[in-house]
This record gives sequence, C-alpha cells and structure tokens, in this order.
Amino acid sequence: MSNVLELDRVSSFYGPIQALREVSIEVPENQIVTLIGANGAGKSTLMMTIFGDPRARSGRVMYYGEDITGLPAYQIARKGIAQSPEGRRVFPRMSVEENLLMGAQVVDYRDYAANLRKIFTLFPRLEERFGQRAGTLSGGEQQMLAIARALMSMPKLLLLDEPSLGLAPLVIKQIFGAIRELNRETGLTVLLVEQNANQALRLAQRAYVLVNGQLTMQGTGAELLAKPEIRAAYLEGAH
Ligand SMILES: Nc1ncnc2c1ncn2[C@@H]1O[C@H](COP(=O)(O)OP(=O)(O)OP(=O)(O)O)[C@@H](O)[C@H]1O
Ligand SMILES: [Mg+2]
Repeated sequence: MSNVLELDRVSSFYGPIQALREVSIEVPENQIVTLIGANGAGKSTLMMTIFGDPRARSGRVMYYGEDITGLPAYQIARKGIAQSPEGRRVFPRMSVEENLLMGAQVVDYRDYAANLRKIFTLFPRLEERFGQRAGTLSGGEQQMLAIARALMSMPKLLLLDEPSLGLAPLVIKQIFGAIRELNRETGLTVLLVEQNANQALRLAQRAYVLVNGQLTMQGTGAELLAKPEIRAAYLEGAH
C-alpha cells in the first residue's frame, strides 16, 4: 500500500513559537486518515504546513514519494492536493456556481460539466442553490460548498479542516456521510482534521492524536475510540 502523503518529522513555527514538533504521519492511498486534537493543538497548522504556509522549518512533506516541502501553494494544488480550510471560507458575494468555477480553475475547467454532476449527486442542495450568493447559504450548505469547491479541482488528496465545526448533528451526519461515500465510491484519499473525535474516529481507517504540537497516539480509528484516555479527553462530556 503506497502513501499519498507522508510527513517526516515536520516542525513548524510562528516566529519564535513552535506549533508542530517533529510530526510524522502517513496517509495511505484510498484511506481516510484523521487527526484529532483540542483547540490550539496545531491541527490547522499541520494542514497549512502541507500547503507551505507556514513552511516546515525542518522535516519533509512527501507527496507520492516526492518532496514538496519547498513548493509554492499553486504548484501543490496543481499536483492534486485540495483543501477545505477551517471556517469554510467560501466567497460570500459570489454565487454557488462562481465558487465552484473557482475550484475548477486549478485544472483549467477540465471535465467541468461531469464534475458538476457528481457534486450535485453528492450534495443535491447545491443544485437547488446554484444561483444563490454563497454568503446567504446556511452553515451546513456553506460547508458542502467548501468541500464541493475543493472537489472541482479533481484532487487525489483532500484535506478537510474541521468540517463539522458549528453544525447541527443532523448536518454533521450528512457531511460525514458524503465524505464516506466519496471515499468508498471514488477511492478518494482524505486527511480529516477534527475536534469532533467521536465521528471522525468512526469514519477513519487510521488516526493520530495531536497534543501541543506533538503526536501522542496513533492507531486505527476503532482502536483509539476504545481507549479510555481518548474517551475521557475527547469523547465523554467533551462534546
Ligand atoms: N498566525 C499565527 N501566528 C502565531 N501563532 C499562531 C498562528 N496561528 C496559530 N498560532 C498558534 O499555533 C498553535 C496551533 O494553532 P492551530 O490553529 O494550528 O490549532 P488548532 O489545533 O487548529 O486549533 P483549533 O481546534 O482551535 O482550530 C496555537 O497555539 C496558536 O495560538
Ligand atoms: Mg484549527
């Protein structure tokens, strides 16, 4: 089984502050890998470090065995990594359609119509809201749009930063269901960063726990779900 992504002892800083401490993770092809951690653990930093901002100060980011640590973000995107950043940053004054077009730009609108059909099958709501301004969508719809926009670039690896944040349980179920479906039907490889450990660990084949910028635990999703210390810290009463 080959790794789509591999972080090898990656350290990242904001000025003098170290946010990641020699983090090593592997994301095998066709799998969903999740990284869980509390507020400020460094989850978003890890996602952003993959895209080179902040740039890893030491260690390496490998994509299909190629060192991409020093590449500019647009080149990383062209290689087939897409992200839906924390806080679902859609373009609020643009329509759903225009947001999706922005995502397709990376691949020069290749297979645009076919990709759009797949998106509408996955998120029928976006077809109903196609002409609507993104800023007027509900939180759940904006999250669907943020994921859909990333998918329009036909990624080989999808990075998702807290897609469940601030959403109602039913909407979270829909979003996670869509991620599972994508992975099952198309084999899309996903790195999912979440505070919602319960759902994320159920979805993931492989999981890591990040505490203060450092990995403290790893295993299958089911293994971590069964650990009392994980239950105490991230599950029981925590959400
Ligand atoms: N631009 C920045 N400048 C300085 N420090 C930063 C910056 N961004 C993040 N940090 C710090 O880096 C650490 C990790 O932050 P990060 O956003 O990666 O955490 P997180 O796990 O994503 O948290 P959350 O669950 O709240 O989103 C925190 O201590 C944070 O204060
Ligand atoms: Mg974050």
